[in-house]
Amino acid sequence: MLNQDVGRGRGVYISTYGCQMNTNDTERMLTLLEMVNFVPVQTPEQASLIIINSCSVREKPVHKVRSEVGLYKEWKLKNPDLRIGVGGCVAQQEKAKLLKDIPVLDFAFGTDAIDQLPSIVAKTYESKEKQVSAKFEHDKPYTVETLLRNPGVAAFVNITKGCDNFCTFCVVPFTRGRERSRSLKELVADIRSLVARGVREVTLIGQNVNSYKSDCGADFGHLLRTLSEDTDIQRIRYTTSHPKDFNQELVDISAKYRSKICDYIHLPAQSGNSEVLKRMNRGYSREEYLDKVAMIRQGIPGVVLSTDIIVGFPGETEAQYDETRSLIETVRYENIYAFKYSPRPFTKAARYTDQVSESDSKRRLQILLDRQREIAFELGQPYNNKTYDVLFEVKAEIPGHIQGRTTHNKLVYSPGDESMIGKTARVHVTKAYPNVLHGEILPGFDA
Ligand code: 5AD
Ligand code: SF4
Repeated sequence: MLNQDVGRGRGVYISTYGCQMNTNDTERMLTLLEMVNFVPVQTPEQASLIIINSCSVREKPVHKVRSEVGLYKEWKLKNPDLRIGVGGCVAQQEKAKLLKDIPVLDFAFGTDAIDQLPSIVAKTYESKEKQVSAKFEHDKPYTVETLLRNPGVAAFVNITKGCDNFCTFCVVPFTRGRERSRSLKELVADIRSLVARGVREVTLIGQNVNSYKSDCGADFGHLLRTLSEDTDIQRIRYTTSHPKDFNQELVDISAKYRSKICDYIHLPAQSGNSEVLKRMNRGYSREEYLDKVAMIRQGIPGVVLSTDIIVGFPGETEAQYDETRSLIETVRYENIYAFKYSPRPFTKAARYTDQVSESDSKRRLQILLDRQREIAFELGQPYNNKTYDVLFEVKAEIPGHIQGRTTHNKLVYSPGDESMIGKTARVHVTKAYPNVLHGEILPGFDA
């Protein structure tokens, strides 16, 4: 039995890199550590336990971990009680090697070891021996109640973990393991309890939500329908979708439950060229991707699309890159997340011999981003002078303002007070910027 006072009131600080999955994992870590008497603090200086929840999807975050740990090194001399650990994808990937490479670290724990964190930390305080825990728990069913200390209006809920797709550029199948889904029953109960705690919007998260499969056989469409019908959640978002698995049934369900399921789909294309897509092992061609976009737009008119793009994938020629440029002209995404290809450990593409030069990748990225800025500006204009339902989430940084989002995931700032938080209001847009809308709340509307 674990001592319930491992923390003895010590401060804990976690810095988080990467995706929403990591953000949720950090919340889980803090909740578990609070249960054994650690106290979350705002700055690393106040902490006796520092954890870096790392990301390794692209190259830079790995460097960030190394340089962040470097900052804390000196502090150990002054505070012998200080323990420093690394969690997340870098820890999963590097395991004991990380502790060898960075001697100041006390422990490393992988993505499936979060629930063991209190006992790992207890051991580092008891014996000062370095701890590594990075085994995957593929064989156990994936069951995790969402742990949030102070849930806000919107919450992220994991529905799957891991990924079995093995896109040739991606490290995730190696750092998050095999794909597993939570059961439909557990998710319904989880979301009902979040609703009871004031949550109005959930974003269902997974590496590939479309391949969700409950133990009872329910697929992702079934999950969306059940959550729409059997819970009182007001809004449902989900990410990330995989184009190869996005089907007509899902479009029909999204259209049927449009009052709950939001008009925003993140649909990573990665490239606009079929040959590159094949070498990426994405499972669709340019034409098939465009067919999916057409299917979605026909079934859910007005839906907003965003995407992820990689430029400079090994072997990408100028002509192939031009097809990615033409993809963004054809689809006209409101938002793109574009990255230079970065070789990742264990992945197939890292072994491809025809790597594109840094200067070519840099130029290709810049041209794409510059053009996207223009497209986003053009797409932003029609929001002017229209009215939208906005679910207000928090106080804004602008004094006297609150912020929320439309169904299209557009951030909205409006003059207003905290009494509106958690409520949906009709907002008249007075000024539309590419990523943000400013608007006035119209009287007499309160859902
Ligand atoms: N290099 C560059 N971008 C990558 N991504 C994933 N792996 C790599 C890599 N090796 C991008 C993809 C993915 C997003 C989360 O990160 O576009 O959709
Ligand atoms: Fe990585 Fe591809 Fe899985 Fe997404 S679908 S997590 S890009 S392997």
